[in-house]
Amino acid sequence: MNVSKAIEGRRFLFLTGKGGVGKTTTTAALALVLASQGKRVLCATCQAKDRLSTLLEGPPVGEEIVQLRPNIMAVNIHPEAALREYGLMVLRLEVLYKAVFENRLVASFFRATPGLFEWAMLGKAWYHTTERRQDGQPRFDVVLFDAPSTGHALDMLRGPKVIVDMAPPGLLHREAMKAWSMFTDPTQAGVVLVTLPEEMPVTETFELYEALDKELGLPVAQLIVNGVIPPMFSASEREALLAPRDLSGTCLGDEALAAGVRRARRELVQHEALVRLREGMGASDKSVPLAYLPHRFEGVNTFESVSELAMRLT
Ligand SMILES: Nc1ncnc2c1ncn2[C@@H]1O[C@H](COP(=O)(O)OP(=O)(O)OP(=O)(O)O)[C@@H](O)[C@H]1O
Ligand SMILES: [Mg+2]
Repeated sequence: MNVSKAIEGRRFLFLTGKGGVGKTTTTAALALVLASQGKRVLCATCQAKDRLSTLLEGPPVGEEIVQLRPNIMAVNIHPEAALREYGLMVLRLEVLYKAVFENRLVASFFRATPGLFEWAMLGKAWYHTTERRQDGQPRFDVVLFDAPSTGHALDMLRGPKVIVDMAPPGLLHREAMKAWSMFTDPTQAGVVLVTLPEEMPVTETFELYEALDKELGLPVAQLIVNGVIPPMFSASEREALLAPRDLSGTCLGDEALAAGVRRARRELVQHEALVRLREGMGASDKSVPLAYLPHRFEGVNTFESVSELAMRLT
């Protein structure tokens, strides 16, 4: 399925998945797709080592928003700075910010409230969806939030929910409420799950989906399976290669055979992972669209390689 269909019109996309599965790579590829459709895109990462500037061949990405390419901006959000900046943006006035955020009681509330720094980062990213240019148009059409991996991402999303559910009426509650109503609205926002076609990342994807769907009630817009290898063997060839045999001999053909066996094993793992994902995520109660990104032998560390992935998403 064409990814842009699944995410069309959504203004906030939260990309998450197991550590190292390709969240940042996918963020860069999606940014290229959306920018090519004329959308103004903001890629927001959290405390990440700066990979976006390499992938999109732009200036270093720090705490200030920078332009990486036409229509693609980026920012790296740090928790303390985010809390301060978000507080300032919300409260507009430095004195008011100081009165509220540097109040001893408020400060200890922050320290004692799990997830508040996370909420500040997420809240700042969300805030950018609300910014307007002088002509009244949104400053950014889409915010791609390159979120932390699974557990941290869930903690981060629990932040606004806890505030919505528990905080007394007031500014903090109001702002969290606004963000939360956007996050839970499938026409405006969605989670993009990124995974690899391997056993553990797939298991984690299902757990993540359950938490997002059942516990938090958030829409999952898309599942992207990254690092897919093209099958070299048919199912019967795979079976033949994986039949038990002794490869400890030193015949010349054994090494080639061992390489074939390794490849067949990897293909089998991938096949099983893809079947689980298609049956599980594609089931009628979930029907999350799947998209696939190919594995690139040399990694994805250049603009050329990420552009190639972007083409696969359209
Ligand atoms: N399709 C692919 N083919 C080959 N290598 C890939 C592919 N996608 C990503 N990689 C490689 O995997 C590594 C991790 O990618 P990336 O940084 O996007 O993952 P991440 O999920 O953002 O990681 P983290 O959890 O650390 O933020 C990188 O070295 C990248 O080159
Ligand atoms: Mg990353």
